[in-house]
Amino acid sequence: MSTLVIVGAQWGDEAKGKIVDVLGNQATYVVRYSGGNNAGHTVITGGKTFKFHLLPAGILHKNTLSILAGGMAICPKALLEEIDRTREQQADLGELRISPSAHVVFPYHRLLDQLEESARGNNKIGTTSRGIGPMYTDKVQRIGIRMGEFVKPELFKKRLAEVLEFKNRLITLLGGEPVKIESLLEEYLGYAAKLAPYVSDTESVLQEAVRRDERVLFEGAQGTFLDLDHGTYPYVTSSHPTTGGACLGTGIGPRDIHNALGVCKAYTTRVGEGPFPTEQDNAVGQQIREQGHEYGTTTGRPRRCGWLDLVALRHSARINSLSGLIITRLDVLAGIPELEVCTAYDMGSGPVNYIPSTPCEWETVQAQYQTLAGWDEDISGARKWEDLPKTTQDYVRFIEEFTGVPAAILSIGPDREETIVLRPELIWG
Ligand code: GDP
Ligand code: IMO
Ligand code: MG
Repeated sequence: MSTLVIVGAQWGDEAKGKIVDVLGNQATYVVRYSGGNNAGHTVITGGKTFKFHLLPAGILHKNTLSILAGGMAICPKALLEEIDRTREQQADLGELRISPSAHVVFPYHRLLDQLEESARGNNKIGTTSRGIGPMYTDKVQRIGIRMGEFVKPELFKKRLAEVLEFKNRLITLLGGEPVKIESLLEEYLGYAAKLAPYVSDTESVLQEAVRRDERVLFEGAQGTFLDLDHGTYPYVTSSHPTTGGACLGTGIGPRDIHNALGVCKAYTTRVGEGPFPTEQDNAVGQQIREQGHEYGTTTGRPRRCGWLDLVALRHSARINSLSGLIITRLDVLAGIPELEVCTAYDMGSGPVNYIPSTPCEWETVQAQYQTLAGWDEDISGARKWEDLPKTTQDYVRFIEEFTGVPAAILSIGPDREETIVLRPELIWG
């Protein structure tokens, strides 16, 4: 039992980064398997704050090999800047390896992201503007440029010329300025030369690691309801953040994924547009946002805040084959006398316990709540279950019972130390 997926069980920003950092030193490999620098993973330790967008949070552990796997969308400029920034903060980082199958994000992807969002008008998705959607579009259209080609100058030049001709037609159609190949090549050949030493096969490395029973930690990005297939389509990202994405994005077979822990906030947040049945666009939502400093790690946008949605969480548990939950940010709820949790949806003909499948159903769905008692105490000093107030314990028990998934870890503050491991046996099995 050596592989573990840390997956976002809601709409992203559940504190995956913190948890991967907490568990990272127990793993030999930490692997990002999907998404790109639309992700923002915060790690706070030893008085320093690290914000990772592309590097796995495991990079801080020097005996760990960090892998950017084939399912990822990699912006070379952002990655090189992040490597430099992280080295300035901590000199001794772990080793990094990049899959030749990972796709490269270019400036024309970012430009198209902006042009497409403007063209959507009121139906905009609220993307992070990092070019992620347009890059995955190229992947599906089978014209994307992968890392393996990018680091071979002659091949890269040939591929870029082909692709750019195609992309410029689209850019012009959407009212943008065509991208000039010469300046793009000059800049990006430089990045390719710097990244080339990191690019080599990762699939067989991981497969061999699994055979040897070495510990591999998969660091999810985004969250289950942003998954292209399982999320609130079309208000989703263009990759597969779910546990299944760890197989697709790395080349590890489904039976070699031994454990999956779903990270969820004790409430719910979402950034960008799209359905959010338990959203509290009111004083409670504002209180949660301020107490929890709920502003995006990547874009700084205020996060939309609301009550914990247990219908969605239970669905997420099933999609992701969760063996355990990691409930984070319990400390943020302190001082709210009564906590609502959503236990059913009403889509117009009485309560149901499944999630909608179409955008119109998502628009009309009404959350049905159960009220649980809150707590006043600052719980961030708790280090074991017994230190928590009875009402916090009851809140956790309710989540476990409703979802049918036991809690493995509780997080009661952003620091590495502010963590309670409840059931260590659920982590690696
Ligand atoms: P990720 O994208 O899932 O890695 O999450 P983000 O890093 O985008 O957002 C999570 C935020 O919550 C970060 O600012 C963390 O430092 C912070 N955080 C993590 N765990 C806790 C916790 O238990 N309590 C509080 N108050 N903050 C936390
Ligand atoms: P982490 O890993 C929260 C959201 C965007 C937008 C939608 C599509 O930090 O949890 P995209 O740029 O991916 O095409 O935007 O997805 N989104 C995230 N929301 N956390 C993230 O990552 C996100 N990555 C993308 O806000 O609604
Ligand atoms: Mg984030």
